[in-house]
Amino acid sequence: MVRKKISVIGAGNVGASLAQFLALKELGDVYLFDVVDGVPEGKALDILEGLPHWGADVSVKGFTTTDPEAYKHLEGSDVIVVTAGLARKPGMTRDDLLSKNVAILTSIGQSVRKYSPNSRIVVVSNPADVMAYAFQKASGIKPEYIMGLGGSLDSARFRTFLAEELSVSVDDVNAFVIGGHGDDMVPFIRYSNVAGIPITSLLSKEKIDEIVKRTRFGGGEIVNYLKTGSAYYAPGISITAMVESIIKNKRRVIPCAAYLTGSHAKHYGAEGIFIGLPIKIGENGVEEIYDMDFNSEEKALWDKTVESVQSSCKKVDEFIKSSN
Ligand code: LAC
Repeated sequence: MVRKKISVIGAGNVGASLAQFLALKELGDVYLFDVVDGVPEGKALDILEGLPHWGADVSVKGFTTTDPEAYKHLEGSDVIVVTAGLARKPGMTRDDLLSKNVAILTSIGQSVRKYSPNSRIVVVSNPADVMAYAFQKASGIKPEYIMGLGGSLDSARFRTFLAEELSVSVDDVNAFVIGGHGDDMVPFIRYSNVAGIPITSLLSKEKIDEIVKRTRFGGGEIVNYLKTGSAYYAPGISITAMVESIIKNKRRVIPCAAYLTGSHAKHYGAEGIFIGLPIKIGENGVEEIYDMDFNSEEKALWDKTVESVQSSCKKVDEFIKSSN
C-alpha cells in the first residue's frame, strides 16, 4: 500500500511540532517546506532520526523554497497544511498580521494550484479563517477541500479549562467554540456538557464567564508568557486531529473554519466566507456543515464574529485588488 503524503508548509514552531506529531502517529510521509535556507531539511532530518526509538516507519523530508520550483515536491500530497506566515508578538492582534500573511498565502496558493490542486488543505496561518479565504482566492481550489484551524484549538482550550475546574477527565468534556479565530470567537455554552450533563448545571455563571474569557484569550495568554512567539504544541495537536480525520476518513466532527455557501450561508446569514462551525471532516474535506440554532444572545455573538471576519475578508479583497 502506498503511504499517505502530508505536506507542511512553514517549518517554524507550529509546522515543526506538527510534522513531528504526524510522523509519531505514522499518518504518512511528511514533507516539510520553508523559505529559510536549510531549516526544513535540518528539522526534517532531526525528526526522522528520532523515529527508530518510536518505531514509526515514515519518511520525513525537508525542502527550502527560496527557489519556488521546490514546491514541485508538493505533488500528490493527500493533505497540505499551511502554517507559513508571521506569528503574533505581544500586543499584536491576529488582524495585525493580515496584510503580511495575505501576501505569503497568495504566493503559496499559486504554488499549490500549480503542483497539487487536488489536495485537502488545512490553513493555520493567522487570522486563520481569513487566510483560508485568501488561500482559496489565490489557489482556486474547491472551497470544500479547504478548512481553517481555529475551533479545533479553541475547543481544546475550552475543554482543558472546564476539565481542570471540575476535576474530571477531559475525555468526558464535550465543549466547542465557533465563529472566527479571534477575540470574539464564541465558546458555545448551551451545547457544552460533561458526559451529557450541561455545564450550566455544574458551574456558576460567573465561573463559566471566567472560563469563556480565558478561552477567548487563550492564544494571547501563551503569547504573553513566551514573549517572542505564539503557541505551538496545542496548535500542532489540534491540526493533527484534523489531518488524521482526513487521512483515515474518520469523519470526526470538529469545529473548524469552513466555507459558507448555499443553504448554510442562508442559515448563518453569511455568504462566501470561511468561519468556524462544527463540521464533519473526512477524505473529501469538509463533508458536512451542521446548521445550529441560536437563541437571541447567541445570535448577537454570532453576528459580531461574522462581522469581524467579513470586514477582514473585505481587506483581503482590497489587498488583492491593489496588488494586481
Ligand atoms: C493561538 C494562535 C495559534 O490561538 O492563533 O494560539
